[in-house]
Amino acid sequence: MFYSGLIKVYCRDITINRFKMDDIEICHCNEVMKNEIVKAIREKHLKTVEEVQEATQAGTVCGGCIPDIEEILSEINK
Ligand code: FES
Repeated sequence: MFYSGLIKVYCRDITINRFKMDDIEICHCNEVMKNEIVKAIREKHLKTVEEVQEATQAGTVCGGCIPDIEEILSEINK
């Protein structure tokens, strides 16, 4: 009984964490979340990093998140 409760809690946490993975902060400089970038790409049919930068401000300061933005772009536009 105790263990099955623990397993349920463990599995629920894994499920919650999987959902949260889509809502991670991609651009730390401008605090832009992945969901915001994905939404902008889908709704505005963005194809380039520059378009994502203009739409979300992600990648416009240090540029450290640009590889992540490129990965998200290629994931959605494949
Ligand atoms: S982390 Fe995105 S511009 Fe610096």
